[in-house]
Amino acid sequence: MSLESYDKEIFDLTQNELKRQCDHLEMIASENFTYPEVMEVMGSILTNKYAEGYPGKRYYGGCEFVDEIEQIAIDRCKKLFGCEFANVQPNSGSQANQGVYGALLNPGDKILGMDLSHGGHLTHGAKVSSSGKMYESFFYGVELDGRINYDKVLEIAKVVRPKMIVCGASAYARQIDFAKFRAIADEVGAYLFADVAHIAGLVVAGEHNDPFPHCDVVSSTTHKTLRGPRGGIIMTNNEEFAKKINSSIFPGIQGGPLMHVIAAKAVGFKHNLSDEWRVYAKQVKANAKKLGEVMLSRGYDLVSGGTDNHLILLSLLNKPFSGKDADIALGNSGITVNKNTVPGEIRSPFVTSGVRIGSPALTARGMKEAEFELIANKIADVLDDINNTALQAKVKAELKELASKFIIYNKAMF
Ligand SMILES: Cc1ncc(COP(=O)(O)O)c(C=O)c1O
Repeated sequence: MSLESYDKEIFDLTQNELKRQCDHLEMIASENFTYPEVMEVMGSILTNKYAEGYPGKRYYGGCEFVDEIEQIAIDRCKKLFGCEFANVQPNSGSQANQGVYGALLNPGDKILGMDLSHGGHLTHGAKVSSSGKMYESFFYGVELDGRINYDKVLEIAKVVRPKMIVCGASAYARQIDFAKFRAIADEVGAYLFADVAHIAGLVVAGEHNDPFPHCDVVSSTTHKTLRGPRGGIIMTNNEEFAKKINSSIFPGIQGGPLMHVIAAKAVGFKHNLSDEWRVYAKQVKANAKKLGEVMLSRGYDLVSGGTDNHLILLSLLNKPFSGKDADIALGNSGITVNKNTVPGEIRSPFVTSGVRIGSPALTARGMKEAEFELIANKIADVLDDINNTALQAKVKAELKELASKFIIYNKAMF
């Protein structure tokens, strides 16, 4: 039976979401549009199979085909990141990180990560996350210029003496210098763990510094710049860590792996390994750069003054409206972004003085610098006259027209 005839309620809501994704301009930096073939295998019979364990060592029968699938995913992941070991089972980026901590730390150990309000992620030690509850967490941040000051990180590390330093971010527009983090970790005798969830698609294309060989362990999501299915992965070159990571994921924190998602990860990796991937990753960066240049030319400040990656952070500290106001006004104009705290923040995390804007999803639709220039000017028009709801409605109609020229999905596919 089809979803439409069995559960019209969920079918209709899915169709509404499809329309939303197609008609609006998706500029949330952590989102992307995955490939139809990735979704095809994700919606396949592979969802039925229990396969606790790892290829060749399962706790269930009938795993001969899923063993091959998982091994392909592992091999492609290793090739992609140029490393010796990959675990492709984490159900999410957060579970990948939990798995890394479980493998290398004991409860109560000290970790040093990037402050959430400075662009870090919840799982890098925030007190509301299990990473901040199970481990004693300390933080470094960015300076008022929006950049990590590596000398300061070293100073903090010398005082804290963490067992692990976590690098990687959710809202940082500049390259992360893994070699510098390695030197700091060596100086204080800490493990170095990189969470490249946001930048992985650029890393594997050679468009961002490589976390290997500097980092002991690397984790990522597969659904952000990598453009694959929702999920997580963990990589290392250290054999002893590899064994610990496998046990930390299963049986440590997960049961049966999501074989349909692992197959989808394999399909996503095939895209990431292709020549076209490098073209996409280059364009993601070029589009973010164009976005930043236009915003600067229109009188908007960028945290760190620009971007080296897939996102920009608008600072609204010198504007009479907040990140929340901007988020709402842009949403009314058909542009989906998210509010974000900025260095020197004066407002609450629910209001903020910044907006994070990313290029990966619109680049996946085929948009290039010309479209990003046009969109950036529309963003500035809306923000310049933030209470003008008539303008917002006009921009929304214009951008829907633009979106219709860059088809990403059609109804027949669902
Ligand atoms: C740097 C970083 N790590 C981990 C995650 C967590 O990923 P997930 O949402 O799949 O748990 C995110 C998600 O935003 C992230 O930005």
